[in-house]
Amino acid sequence: MENKGTRTLETERLLLRQFQINDAEDMFKNWASDPEVTAFLTWPPHADANLTRSLLADWINRYSSPAYYNWVIELKEINEIIGNISVVMLNERTEAAEIGYCMGKAWWGKAIMPEALGAVIKYLFEEVGLNRVAACHDSNNPKSGRVMDKAGMKLEGVLRAAGINNQGICDKVWHSILKEEYEKY
Ligand SMILES: CC(C)(COP(=O)(O)OP(=O)(O)OC[C@H]1O[C@@H](n2cnc3c(N)ncnc32)[C@H](O)[C@@H]1OP(=O)(O)O)[C@@H](O)C(=O)NCCC(=O)NCCS
Repeated sequence: MENKGTRTLETERLLLRQFQINDAEDMFKNWASDPEVTAFLTWPPHADANLTRSLLADWINRYSSPAYYNWVIELKEINEIIGNISVVMLNERTEAAEIGYCMGKAWWGKAIMPEALGAVIKYLFEEVGLNRVAACHDSNNPKSGRVMDKAGMKLEGVLRAAGINNQGICDKVWHSILKEEYEKY
């Protein structure tokens, strides 16, 4: 594998690119301030856009590392940012990544996240050369499991009471795709 950092990826409807500091207001407005979006996430909704801005300043600093993968999702049709997809854990020895994602409620149910996840999986296998891409969700948040299914990941199993998010302790449902499966997919 060879880390290549957060390069711009494009799909039919989406542009996946690095965050810029002036994305803070739209990120706050479109998803980061919404408790429904963060219900099954580990961070509380942002109380104000200054918090979003300082988080983005930190993330933007990290783009200098080729091992840092964190995209903002822009919907080309409206030229607006609507969500975020990133590598939340990278193990270079096993050549494996874990992905996390979230998106504003206004855009749920249009198969946008499966499209974004598909592009990230393609990049991580074809360009970075990983062997495994995984993701997990709270068992009470099955719609995230549907995203993983649609992007070609297979169900691995459940780690009972192994996670914690804004709902409290939860069962974590794991999905993954291996390079050899991706090549056949
Ligand atoms: C999970 C999430 C990324 C799904 O993205 P998406 O682009 O809406 O995904 P899809 O359109 O493929 O829909 C996936 C499932 O969500 C459900 N769903 C669809 N529209 C919905 C809506 N308007 N409201 C609630 N759920 C909906 C359906 O079960 C759907 O599965 P189906 O297509 O088999 O019916 C998005 O809901 C989200 O950002 N949620 C908040 C953050 C989060 O939970 N992240 C994942 C943490 S593991």
